[in-house]
Amino acid sequence: MKVNLGYLSWGGNPFYWDLKESANFHGILTGYSGSGKTYSINKIIQQMINVPSVERVYVFDVHGDIGENIGKSNISTVDFSETAGNGINILEISPNRQYGGPRKRINEVIKTINKTGTKLGPRQIASLSRYLKSLYASKGIKMKDPSTWNRKSPTLYDLRIFMETSLNALELTADLNVAQQLEIVNRAAKTMASQSENAEEGITEAEQKLEECKLEAKEAYSLFIDNIKTGEEFEKILEMKKNASKMVESLLDRIQLLEDSGVFNGGGISFDASKKVFRFDLKTLSLDEKIVFIDTMAKKIYDHSISKGITDRAREFIIIDEASDFIDNDKDSIYNKIAIGSRKYGLGILFASQSIHHFSDDILMNTAMKLVLGVDNLYTKQVADRIRVKEDLLKYLKPKVSALSMVRSKDAEAPEGWQKIVFDKKMAKQN
Ligand SMILES: Nc1ncnc2c1ncn2[C@@H]1O[C@H](COP(=O)(O)OP(=O)(O)OP(=O)(O)O)[C@@H](O)[C@H]1O
Ligand SMILES: [Mg+2]
Repeated sequence: MKVNLGYLSWGGNPFYWDLKESANFHGILTGYSGSGKTYSINKIIQQMINVPSVERVYVFDVHGDIGENIGKSNISTVDFSETAGNGINILEISPNRQYGGPRKRINEVIKTINKTGTKLGPRQIASLSRYLKSLYASKGIKMKDPSTWNRKSPTLYDLRIFMETSLNALELTADLNVAQQLEIVNRAAKTMASQSENAEEGITEAEQKLEECKLEAKEAYSLFIDNIKTGEEFEKILEMKKNASKMVESLLDRIQLLEDSGVFNGGGISFDASKKVFRFDLKTLSLDEKIVFIDTMAKKIYDHSISKGITDRAREFIIIDEASDFIDNDKDSIYNKIAIGSRKYGLGILFASQSIHHFSDDILMNTAMKLVLGVDNLYTKQVADRIRVKEDLLKYLKPKVSALSMVRSKDAEAPEGWQKIVFDKKMAKQN
């Protein structure tokens, strides 16, 4: 159950991350470019796969440099380039009653999209949310009915077509209030249609309701016409329509971009399940595509680990190199959720990033293993303050030779503190 991180620089005893004793299974590695983060990640993975309880290590490889030395017999790689045909469906919902369903997925998808490109405005968020709700509903997936959550989820292609159709409808409708009435009429018609399929006899209440809605919509139209006074009403409507269309069009552009990347439309992923390491080769994706991909997949992995039930052993790991590009300080982000909540499901997450300042307090506090590789001399004071060590300890770290490390034990009484370690036992000083 032990992962060797190096040797104590005084005495040369091996320094371990003992997964059995660890407060949780999360780790962070920091250090400037070239200090050996990826190298150390590779060494850690190599050892993780020999821990009997570890069933799977998911590697998000953004540069294509993880997994060297692990050996072909242990690793299965899937290439997620535009043309490879592999992909995930970002609209797929989990059927689980507690953490699944369309409402959660809609919020997550919007948050994820909002991490890329320019931020969506409040109207765009509301509009995208409405589109998605209607889209799920059109596939028979209902917010409040978990028994419908295992139906086939729509895809980005479906969303785009749906939005394009609505955009055309927008061109046709006159006034927003009228449009709303029109929607109500249609909703009432739908209710009636679905009830008349089941109803055995006669005029239903729904039919009556539909007639009422039609009347109201007609009233809205005549009111609108009666209220024409200045002669500018028509232009105002055109302006309103133009703005609404513009907003939907720019949303459509975002969706189209994701769709064009080719990896979010549910092409499928076929890893070789006999291998412990699943490597997502993301090197050809754009940064935004990587962000969407890792966000979505991390959530799927987390859901999957919860579905496997509670355990006290380390069962699965997620590895994210260059983590500052992906993690954020949002309390609700999937990475915070995993850092805080996944221990009892045997899921660990390993982040590597150039600076310790890239990590939120939640992530720092909930990460049992820390490995600080080279720190630039300009920043030793800030880093020393953040991790509460003497600045001198950081000044003399040599990349590829020495590092500071700490492992928090699940035993609250166990001594804890930063240790200076060396990677080559021969470099240790003898007492
Ligand atoms: N402990 C080590 N022993 C021997 N070689 C090492 C060690 N650590 C790193 N290296 C070598 O140093 C080079 C840089 O290391 P690495 O790529 O891991 O740095 P990095 O911190 O990931 O950098 P970047 O932030 O640019 O990705 C690599 O060629 C790696 O093989
Ligand atoms: Mg690296």
